[in-house]
Amino acid sequence: MFTASTRLVGLLGYPVAHSFSPQIHNAAFRALGLDWVYLAFGVEPSRLPAAVEGIRALGFAGANVTIPHKESIMAYLDEIHPLARLIGAVNTVVSREGKLLGYNTDAGGFLRSLEEAGVDPAGKRALILGAGGAARAVAFALAQARCAALTLANRTEDRAQELARGLGEAGFRAVEVAPWEEGSLAGVIPEVDMVINTTSIGMAPDRERVPLDPGLLRPRQVACDIVYNPPETAFLKGARLRGCLVISGLSMLLYQGAEAFTLWTGREAPVEVMREVLYNLALR
Ligand code: ATR
Repeated sequence: MFTASTRLVGLLGYPVAHSFSPQIHNAAFRALGLDWVYLAFGVEPSRLPAAVEGIRALGFAGANVTIPHKESIMAYLDEIHPLARLIGAVNTVVSREGKLLGYNTDAGGFLRSLEEAGVDPAGKRALILGAGGAARAVAFALAQARCAALTLANRTEDRAQELARGLGEAGFRAVEVAPWEEGSLAGVIPEVDMVINTTSIGMAPDRERVPLDPGLLRPRQVACDIVYNPPETAFLKGARLRGCLVISGLSMLLYQGAEAFTLWTGREAPVEVMREVLYNLALR
């Protein structure tokens, strides 16, 4: 039952109909007995400034931000957390003392997905496939977690070069850019501990596609995918068969949500409740 003091959290994206976030967060609010509600709003790009003003005017406690607004929303917020500024994208907005603050919980979510799998990135070498927003979050997360070296490979090499420059300006210089060709990547793979797909390759309906032949991987390497539909992509399936430790995009999705929940409510997120809802939705 909602009341006159129910706190509001919204998802701003376009489209939003397929998001799992409302079910995950509403289950979490219920589990902690919080009088809060999470609603999804499909906001056309031209209406984003009005939607942000709406959040202010209606006194929302916060919001999540998804495609296509993660970068553009930054101009309408009062403050941007330094990590979100480095990544260049905001996925969580928190209202605090009348100000709207922008955060990025994708980075922390990715690190927690590694931690859950028992992987400590400190001192490790990683190959990141892709150079979009998700790649930026993963790259800055790994740099912050003191990984030893990053290799970036992207179809559009300029974007990988730009990300490498951004990492360098932030003080992380152990970055190389490799050409987006299997021949070149086959030479990189034996040198790394982890391979992370941040491209959309393998996402439904193109479930059979892989960003890289998983047959090139070696046993005990870590393979991560940010794609969570399907929960186990063809890339991860191949990696698992090669004897790699595989980490599904569902795990990053869960933990970015848990971190956002804590930012809004100040409470520890009921991760097991959220996991059950998410996995039930994703696997059905
Ligand atoms: P996100 O914010 O989810 O990362 P994005 O910024 O659009 O989304 O980035 C998508 C990433 O997937 C990019 O690295 C993109 O490569 P380009 O920079 O060359 O566009 C990559 N990607 C998407 N489809 C691809 C495909 N068919 N082959 C190779 N890379 C692809």
